[in-house]
Amino acid sequence: MSLKGLDLIETASRDELQALQLERLHRSLRHAYEGNPCYRRKFDEAGVHPDDLRSLGDLARFPFTTKADLRDAYPFGFFAVPMERLARLHASSGTTGKPTVVGYTRKDIETWSKIVARSIHAAGGRPGMKVHIAYGYGLFTGGLGAHYGAEELGCTVIPMSGGQTEKQVQLISDFRPDIIMVTPSYMLALLDEFRRQGLDPTATSLKTGIFGAEPWTDTVRREIEQSFAIDAVDIYGLSEVMGPGVAQECVEAKDGPTIWEDHFYPEVIDPATGDVLPDGAEGELVFTSLTKEAMPIVRYRTRDLTRLLPGTSRVMRRMERIARRSNDMLIVRGVNAYPGQFEEHILGCPAFSPHFRIELTRPGRMDQVRLKVELRPGATSGDGQENARQLAHRIKTMIGISVAVDVLPPDGLPRSTGKAQRVVDLRPKD
Ligand code: DLL
Repeated sequence: MSLKGLDLIETASRDELQALQLERLHRSLRHAYEGNPCYRRKFDEAGVHPDDLRSLGDLARFPFTTKADLRDAYPFGFFAVPMERLARLHASSGTTGKPTVVGYTRKDIETWSKIVARSIHAAGGRPGMKVHIAYGYGLFTGGLGAHYGAEELGCTVIPMSGGQTEKQVQLISDFRPDIIMVTPSYMLALLDEFRRQGLDPTATSLKTGIFGAEPWTDTVRREIEQSFAIDAVDIYGLSEVMGPGVAQECVEAKDGPTIWEDHFYPEVIDPATGDVLPDGAEGELVFTSLTKEAMPIVRYRTRDLTRLLPGTSRVMRRMERIARRSNDMLIVRGVNAYPGQFEEHILGCPAFSPHFRIELTRPGRMDQVRLKVELRPGATSGDGQENARQLAHRIKTMIGISVAVDVLPPDGLPRSTGKAQRVVDLRPKD
């Protein structure tokens, strides 16, 4: 750690960072090739060898790894160390079939803890602060990933996990944490609960919220910041690459997450051709791990869509906040749309709360979209009907999709305690 509490590499020069990346990348590719038969086969089939990497640009010659590759090797086929060296397993629940299993050596857990500690520090966390963790504990990487990072930074951890919404509010009021780590959608559910209990959410001890695991818009950021009087920053990550903390937004800039490039090498590709795109262009984010032991990952296709941006608060590059995933795209009567686009318009209606659901059905031959929204407490049903009419019109004009809007009473939609389920697709599978 340097004087400002940053790791030295965070303020190094671009040249120093790239030299470190090249050395680590070479080592990591060799480790994957020598330690794992799937990588060896994929590299051999593509006619590349780790020694072919002479510059960072040479990485483009190596094959991608996809979610399907990991699923085919279920459960442990992508590990690159003997099973007895594994200290922990996590898994991400896929929407279809088996989960994707990921593994960590003791050293991987240490590295991950340090990276999450660096992330919490970048968000404004300091040793001695209390951190309330409401990401789920268990196979999901959110809870334990945040937990070990907060401990590593020297914070006092409150390992609340997700759920028990009333108790969350009680503990936030009584234990007086400085920081909360939770999905943004569950933070909105906590906001409702504070109000339901007649408590003033601006009066909590919280100063900062570190939100991630799902897309959230700047409109939701403003809603959370104003309602709780806190700073809301974005944390990004995915199990296959490590878990939370692959990238973290710095509180002083709030200009998109800084990618911890000394551990994860990012590329953005054209999802159709696989070609690497220049910085600034939008495409699919791809990661190669630089320091992982148990499960090195080479050119993993995240399906998250973003662009790489120059560093501001740190030497590392930033990414634009993830608003959409390629597989979240709704295709309705040939028009493509993402749930985030609906969210912006819903939050533009003063009568509606930020909770919503998009229901897709196909009663005959045509897809139908029902948008289920909720009245904010205090809004009249007249306001709701008027806003619903405007909302349908705005969505038709701006997104190009006709929707029916169902206005539900306050609390009419189920709340998720982790990642929100925004889209319910009831169309027959053809
Ligand atoms: O969600 C890890 C995590 C936990 C990140 C807690 C942040 C906080 P998975 O369950 O494997 O891992 O899901 C990974 O979630 O590919 C993105 O599509 C989405 N995602 C994660 N963070 C963000 C974010 C965890 N800040 C998938 N913004 C990723 C938008 C996010 N999407």
